[in-house]
Amino acid sequence: MDKETEEDRRDNNSDEEKRNVSPESSEVEDSEMERLRRYLIQKLRLVDLSTSNQSDQSQQRVLRELSLDGIVEYIKEKPDCKIITMAGAGISTSAGIPDFRSPSSGLYHKLDKYNLPYPQAIFELDFFTKNPEPFFTLARELLPEGFRPTMSHYFIRLLWEKGLLLRHYTQNIDTLERVAGLPPEKLVEAHGTFHTGRCLKCRAPYMLSWMKEKILEGMIPKCEECNEGVVKPDIVFFGEMLPERFQELADRDFVQADLLIIMGSSLVVQPFASLVDRVRTTCPRLLINNEKVGMQDRLSRFLGLRQGLVFDTKSTQGGRDIAWLGDCDTGCQLLADKLGWGDELRTLVQKEHDNLDVKNRNDN
Ligand code: OAD
Repeated sequence: MDKETEEDRRDNNSDEEKRNVSPESSEVEDSEMERLRRYLIQKLRLVDLSTSNQSDQSQQRVLRELSLDGIVEYIKEKPDCKIITMAGAGISTSAGIPDFRSPSSGLYHKLDKYNLPYPQAIFELDFFTKNPEPFFTLARELLPEGFRPTMSHYFIRLLWEKGLLLRHYTQNIDTLERVAGLPPEKLVEAHGTFHTGRCLKCRAPYMLSWMKEKILEGMIPKCEECNEGVVKPDIVFFGEMLPERFQELADRDFVQADLLIIMGSSLVVQPFASLVDRVRTTCPRLLINNEKVGMQDRLSRFLGLRQGLVFDTKSTQGGRDIAWLGDCDTGCQLLADKLGWGDELRTLVQKEHDNLDVKNRNDN
């Protein structure tokens, strides 16, 4: 998994620089820039030049209206609509699990007590092998214990029950999609899961229940097979490969999708973030999030590398990206209401939460 850079974040959020040049010099500069762009792409073998101008194609009109209503109409008109959902920590915050980067409430802003060289070190393999203590102290707070899936999780399940969910890709490690009843074959846990673990030395496998017992007792789980290695939950740390399932299914799924819904992610961690570019250029993309994210940065635009999301509601040529800004649960409920599934979603959440409450009472 790659780390984001501060520059990426700045570029994501900044407007394009305004330059003070005459039209003639600007044309010369443009053609030189284009030559440089093509040279770099060819030298670095970054992309197939024939497809690097895809953004032009995305200008064809795929939604009648660039709004949530446009998306609703699009779904209603496509009874076999293949929807991919992508999620991040924002879909679990209303369950009581903090996200990572939200100012003040995000986990990365609350790690002072762990004395880390920098916040992300807590999820870095190199750091973990030398000092696993901070991770397991944090894990005690984050372990999937009694958390209930949110409205957003059940909205995804409803998409599956309606036969519309091609796949759900999540960065979350809290297992709440499983708790919400999404079948494993519909789920890609891109950053792994707490569900299982492995000894870093002899690779012996362990289950959550075993790891949980040790972690909650304040111990660092040590392998009982080799008696040496630390048992690390199967969470993808920075410096580790994503699961094979991610690559295999992403290659197959995204080209087929008719609609992409992205929820509760800052879209800054790669390679997950660039999945948004793997759908066809005619596939609408709906972002449901507190803030606009995933827009193209300047370097990627220059190299024709990454399209990113383009939120331009005033576009006269079409466009396909919609940002619905606000709370994920509210956005999902609104979407369900507009699709005529509102009561079904409310009932599903109520019923499932009641069942979980009974189960949690019986377990304690
Ligand atoms: P972030 O914390 O980076 O982003 C969460 C996004 O969700 C932000 O844009 C928030 O504004 C938004 N958000 C939070 N609560 C929300 C709510 N209730 N409704 C709507 N939006 C909300 O989390 P991720 O994008 O998931 O890696 O982070 C990606 C990866 O970075 C994680 O998987 C994690 C971390 O390093 C590992 O744990 C290995």
